[in-house]
Order: sequence, then C-alpha cells, then structure tokens
Amino acid sequence: HKVVWLSRHGESIYNIEKKIGGNSLLSERGELYSEKLPSIIKNECNVSDELIVWTSTLTRTQQTAQHLPYKTKLTWKALDELDAGLCDGMTYEEIESKYPDDFKQRDEDKYGYRYRGGESYRDVVIRLEPVIMELERQQNILIITHQAVLRCIYSYFMNIPQDQSPWVAIPLHTLIRLEVRPYGPCKVTLFKANI
Ligand code: G3H
Repeated sequence: HKVVWLSRHGESIYNIEKKIGGNSLLSERGELYSEKLPSIIKNECNVSDELIVWTSTLTRTQQTAQHLPYKTKLTWKALDELDAGLCDGMTYEEIESKYPDDFKQRDEDKYGYRYRGGESYRDVVIRLEPVIMELERQQNILIITHQAVLRCIYSYFMNIPQDQSPWVAIPLHTLIRLEVRPYGPCKVTLFKANI
C-alpha cells in the first residue's frame, strides 16, 4: 500500500501568542519536535526508505524539517497557510473587536468565508489541486505544512466532504501516517511526540 506522511510544523512563537498567519520561528517546544521527528520516523514507524520532504515556503515548516536526513526537500507555495489577508498577525479576539461583521460571517460559513485581501478554505482546496495530483503520482512523501492546509489534504484522503474540512482536528506535534487504499478511506495511524 502507498503511504503518505503528514505533519503540522512544530509550535511557533505566533502559536503561543495566539496570533494567526505571519512567518514566525518555532518556539522551544516546536524546536524540540523538529529534533525528535527523525527518530520518530525511524524508530516508531520503522521507515528505512528515503522520504521526499515537502514543506511550505514559510520558515516554521522548513525549520521543522531541518534535522531530517533526507536529500530531497521541496518547498511549495501552494502549501503555505491559509492567507488571512488584513487579519494576518492578529489574534481571534482582535479580529472580533476590529472586524465584528467579518468574524460573524466566518463563524456562519467557515468554509466559504474569504478573509479581506486573503483566502477562504475553498480557495485553499483549489490551490492544493496540483499538490494532490503530484501526491497521487509519487511515493514516500512527507508533507510538513499548516493546520488549515492539512485539514484539506487530510479530508481529501479520508473522503471527508471538503466543506467539513475547517473543523477537522489535526493535533500538534503528531506525525500522521495515511495508508492509501484503492477503495474507501485511508487507514490512519498517529505518532504523538512526547514533548
Ligand atoms: O491560521 C490559520 C489556522 O491554522 C486555521 O485556523 O481556520 O480554525 O481559524 P482556523
């Protein structure tokens, strides 16, 4: 069976400050995750093959990949986090007080709501199409990307309707193994890092 590996980036400084978007560095815990990831893959998952690592163009995903021993690491703009436009760098509390109507609209239609000057989940699903096509053709891919993006990729492989993807839980500091099956959803195994 074909296997796809997925992970969120390690915890970032913005995650701690509860800010969305941006291009911050990993926190100390996030760095610890990046240090542990190679041994989780090797020891807990018994992966002896070379993996091909795909990250976004943002620092936190590349930092999470930095200790992985594999030769091929590719960055995809299409794997960047959902663009929050004007709200980039704000906390949800700030968004709610500064743009209450937008906050309400997003609450009512989280899949379709497009941030001003930014993206919706629907936009992200569309820009992920080439990534998904390439994934279907390739073997041994490990994708390190962002929560919203992973929700969409995970939903695709798990046959979850895309309009439900905004609520899919993708845990932090956890490697996800998806065993792709020809019919029906993938078999999922989670490897949680002890940090
Ligand atoms: O900044 C984007 C987050 O990863 C996605 O969070 O879509 O639940 O607001 P949200």
